[in-house]
Amino acid sequence: MNEQTRIPVILDGDPGHDDAIAWTLAKASGRMDILAVTSVAGNQTIQKTTYNAQRICTLLGIDAPIAQGRPRPLIEPPMNAPSVHGESGLDGPPLPEPAMGLSELSACELMAKTLRESLTPVTIISTGPLTNTAALLLAHPELKEKIARISLMGGGIAYGNWTPAAEFNILVDPEAAKIVFRSGVPILMAGLDVTEQALILPEDFRRIAAIGNPVADIVAQWLEFFYIFHKNLGYDGAPMHDPCAVMALLHPEVFTMKPLYVQIETAGKYCRGATVGDLLGVTGHAPNATCILSVDRKRFADLLVDAMRFYGEGQK
Ligand code: BDR
Ligand code: CA
Repeated sequence: MNEQTRIPVILDGDPGHDDAIAWTLAKASGRMDILAVTSVAGNQTIQKTTYNAQRICTLLGIDAPIAQGRPRPLIEPPMNAPSVHGESGLDGPPLPEPAMGLSELSACELMAKTLRESLTPVTIISTGPLTNTAALLLAHPELKEKIARISLMGGGIAYGNWTPAAEFNILVDPEAAKIVFRSGVPILMAGLDVTEQALILPEDFRRIAAIGNPVADIVAQWLEFFYIFHKNLGYDGAPMHDPCAVMALLHPEVFTMKPLYVQIETAGKYCRGATVGDLLGVTGHAPNATCILSVDRKRFADLLVDAMRFYGEGQK
């Protein structure tokens, strides 16, 4: 992808601290045209993630239409992560109340309208369970060609985080993930293999806080909140899961990637929600996903810190 190419995107997520930071990065890049924002149930209930999406868009000045997603995964009951993101789904610093209403369309229909109306194919950046994206593919298969790629945070080739085999976003809605990975749409997968390496350290939060604009202040506090949970698990910093799905589009050069055939386990006693990557090519299937496997952590951190200057500099 050319450095200067503009990237039309739909932001689909369950904000969430790292979703919020991913969206902050998308807006700050100045290279992404944010055409729509859609919420999905995941880190918290759909009501809470939708409210958070509205508050984040208000904070960042994202003026795209926002639509609420489905209240639950395709088949299983909802599953949330208050231990990681708090009762609100985005605990920490106070945020502005929403300055905008919600679209009358569902997330799936807003995505469809956005694709239909776009002159060029659109990238869906999915940082939560894949429920909305799967619903879109089921309801509007004719629009597949209008999707440039799905850049998603989910899964892990080597391991999971909510079970030994499964990562949270895929575990919440494995049936949706299966539909997405079988769709034939190009997939860029930021799984735990890379996102656990994309650590933002306390010294990086301090660099962000020192920038001195209101968004950078809030991002530094989100990072601090996210870090406290992870520190108790032995991490040295806050893993930037969802920002990897944005950064990989903007700066692919800081990552290593490998095309793989990835299957989603929807049954299984121990492995439901696993993303099973064919590392040795034993299935004979062509790759269906470009899997991001590692990152230059220092360059990633520097890019994230620098991006926060977009919101103003030197106000402290
Ligand atoms: C994923 O789960 C959520 O808690 C985060 O927002 C991220 O999308 C990491 O497993
Ligand atoms: Ca998320």
